[in-house]
Amino acid sequence: MSNDAKNPIAQMEKIVSLCKRRGFIYQSSEIYGGCGGVWDYGPLGAELKRNLRTAWWNTMTREREDVLGLDASILMNPAIWKASGHVDTFADLMRECSLTNKRVRADHVDPQDGVVMKYSGAKAPNGWRWDRAISALLKNGEHIESFRKRIRALIAQNAGESAGKPEEIELLGEEKIDAVNGSVDFHPETGGMLGEARPFNLMLKTYLGPTATEDDVTYLRPETAQAIFAQFKNVFDSSRVKVPFGIGQIGKAFRNEVTPKNFTFRSREFEQMELEFFIKPDEAVEIISGEVAKWHEGADLSEPKPNWGWELWHRYWVDQRTKFYQGIGLGDVLEYYWQTPADLAHYARACVDILCEFPFGTEELEGIAARGEFDLSAHQTASTKSQEIFDEELKTAAAKLTDEQKEALIQKRLAAEAAKTKGEPMPEAAVRAWFERLFKGSYVPHVIEPSAGLDRMALAVIAKAFSETEKVDEKGKKEVITVLRLHPRVAPIKVGVFPLLKNKPELVAKAREVYALLKKHMNCFYDETASIGRRYARQDEVGTPFGVTIDFETCGEKGPDLLDTVTLRHRDSGEQERVKISELLGKLLPLVS
Ligand code: GAP
Repeated sequence: MSNDAKNPIAQMEKIVSLCKRRGFIYQSSEIYGGCGGVWDYGPLGAELKRNLRTAWWNTMTREREDVLGLDASILMNPAIWKASGHVDTFADLMRECSLTNKRVRADHVDPQDGVVMKYSGAKAPNGWRWDRAISALLKNGEHIESFRKRIRALIAQNAGESAGKPEEIELLGEEKIDAVNGSVDFHPETGGMLGEARPFNLMLKTYLGPTATEDDVTYLRPETAQAIFAQFKNVFDSSRVKVPFGIGQIGKAFRNEVTPKNFTFRSREFEQMELEFFIKPDEAVEIISGEVAKWHEGADLSEPKPNWGWELWHRYWVDQRTKFYQGIGLGDVLEYYWQTPADLAHYARACVDILCEFPFGTEELEGIAARGEFDLSAHQTASTKSQEIFDEELKTAAAKLTDEQKEALIQKRLAAEAAKTKGEPMPEAAVRAWFERLFKGSYVPHVIEPSAGLDRMALAVIAKAFSETEKVDEKGKKEVITVLRLHPRVAPIKVGVFPLLKNKPELVAKAREVYALLKKHMNCFYDETASIGRRYARQDEVGTPFGVTIDFETCGEKGPDLLDTVTLRHRDSGEQERVKISELLGKLLPLVS
């Protein structure tokens, strides 16, 4: 456990520093002063991310018979973002600092205490003038002189070279206005008064083609999901699948976050791992199975059943995703937030956020939403291309229904529409038209969407694994040792291979042999420099779960029993065991994959 587990800022600083020092994560464009909200993954970070990606891909697609993969482009026809609602509604409320024009998300301003200071403007000896009223917060405990200096510096920064030296700027008409407590009306960094909250679209605009006119505008995708919807029909028609089935995709997404923060947690460029799992509408399930199974506490979610409606499928995916997180070592830091009816979008039936404990608080790792037919229907309307599928089993079952049974289904749906508290109820004529198509076996599938962020997942596993212990060295000096207790499945390096001494050719040759044997199957690191304890510590710090040491016993110096055996060290328990080289791979592979 880290000494700073109770001091989140110090804990995060240590994690950020370790990530840079050992090549997990660097600031993007660092030599040019960085690039806000964008991060690069170094050699170990790239391996960690790759392992998480592979774990997700294998669990969600390869190991299942009912999910297929997709790798769609980042750039798409902008009509997709219009149809999905992103052009009109994918916005955060944002407020602008009246002093510097810096923006901040309206819900990211913590309450502050202090005194409001007002100026009628500012001027400089070179004739420059700023005739604009300025209000800013003199924070409690801040000296008036350092406050004025800060305001002059901010004004100078904003005005550029024309204002001259900050210390020569004269602030005009100073007035002390009110003392405020718990105010959210001042920019958290600058202290300048904030303007009205206004929506700010988060999509990053770009131009497709050489003319760069408004007609060429498109967007870097803000989520991978829409490409899955847009290609739904192609995948369905080309893959001989039946509903229920899913399409999974991993890829980059971009959002012009107003206030990127908490290291990689909220970035402007990030990677998503999304599944759109298409299911039959509940009415189709009822026609085919005679009932729609109800969820109850303790319901068996181990294997999908034909009588599952959206609710059980949604619960099933929450359960599956929980098992996934348990499999990468995050099982005991998860929490769940079930969105209330007031939180939900009008088309959503349920949404649960899987939250994870980070040093800066418990925050969202993944969202799992039951989105009905909203997305495919929106694309059907906008593109005028049918997104319906034909279900033979449904047609056959519907043909056996009496007119009374059909009418009963329609009446049940009409009652549900009338009871809606959000969104417009579907008109009766539309409901009847929808059932007419359904009884013939045609419908637009509904969707359950587990949507995870790869960068958040990487940060979550690093933060969970980070630990510090105090050790006393041979000279009695205390030192703090960092150990990254990463799950072996996700650890960037699986095994460190160490000859006991680097100046003994027979040890080095054997160690190279072991390294060559293992590296074809897992990422290994060969290290012959420094003491063996130092080499273990270097690997502990980057989360390597196993160490293999080749010593004189390996070369047969203590008799034939130990010939061709190595010491296998386990990072977390410190346990060391003697293992035959011929058995090493068989022992390690199941532990790391
Ligand atoms: N298609 C649904 C969707 O995109 P979301 O809740 O906006 O839903 C899903 O995003 C996941 O993507 C989040 O749970 C988070 O893990 C990740 N994510 C979203 N915005 C992010 C950002 N700015 N930086 C890093 N990860 C982000």
